[in-house]
Amino acid sequence: MESVIFNIKRFDGERTWNQEYRLPRETNTLLGCLVRIREEQDPTLNFTSACRHAICGSCAVQVNGNAYLACETQLDALLETFETTTLYLEPLNNLPVVRDLVVDFDGLGEKVKKVSGWLEERADRCDHMQSQEEFHLISKPADCVLCGSCVSECRELAYDDGTYLPPAVMNKAYRFERDSRDGSRGARVLAALQNNLWKCIHCQQCTTKCPKHIPIAEEISYLRREALRMGEKDSSGARHAYSFYDDVKKTGLLNETMLALRTEGMVKTAANRTPFAIRMVAAGKMNPLHMPKPVAGIESVRKLYEFSRRNDKEARHV
Ligand code: FES
Repeated sequence: MESVIFNIKRFDGERTWNQEYRLPRETNTLLGCLVRIREEQDPTLNFTSACRHAICGSCAVQVNGNAYLACETQLDALLETFETTTLYLEPLNNLPVVRDLVVDFDGLGEKVKKVSGWLEERADRCDHMQSQEEFHLISKPADCVLCGSCVSECRELAYDDGTYLPPAVMNKAYRFERDSRDGSRGARVLAALQNNLWKCIHCQQCTTKCPKHIPIAEEISYLRREALRMGEKDSSGARHAYSFYDDVKKTGLLNETMLALRTEGMVKTAANRTPFAIRMVAAGKMNPLHMPKPVAGIESVRKLYEFSRRNDKEARHV
């Protein structure tokens, strides 16, 4: 019978090493395989799980560098996806490791507090009634089980100094910001702004890897648009967004020289970008004197802007 190798990253509090286990290939979930390894081969192997039904969010691990909820992931699906019978299992990224595949979620809980990730009652209403439309605004983000998959996949967090809010926390901010029953409209947008909202690099990994298919990157974009609507315009993130918007509307192209100058200002751009700019000019990839002219069909681009403004209530403020 074909066997599957589970190469698992171990950690005992001091030492890290990789350990291999073999199981026969069978119809099972990834969590089922881990349980079998612990029961039949190694009782010292640590991992967490509770509900076994993709509800509690405690069983997420990395397989071959990608986050999965172990209880809902079929072994066969993994072997087909990676076209291999060797799986490398590691704890989630961007969270402190406690033992083996177990990570510490306490820090995440603390960050949820920064955006008041709970319902603040409205002073003008004491009922909790919602229309179907209002409920649909929050039904998807409310599916989050705080499993940490998006945290593990976030490319910004991999280099962050600890000040950026993880995608799961941004989802909480969005979920309560959009809740018609909530009484502190705008407070979570400000909280996200104060915690580097503009740092998201739109890699979309949080959205792609979320086991509940929550469009977290879109939610972050919504928080940014709300921030602009509320008057945010002086941060480098807001200046970058406005510059991008204006350039494309004017010519259909980005003016990369002006984009950097408008985003960071003359002094900062000169201090941070001069060596890079010199290399770009020397390689013929940039001409700082070139001012893009409107592309052929620029009228169609502008019509798209108008169409978007007319049809998207949220875009009208830009
Ligand atoms: S065990 Fe609860 S989500 Fe997997």
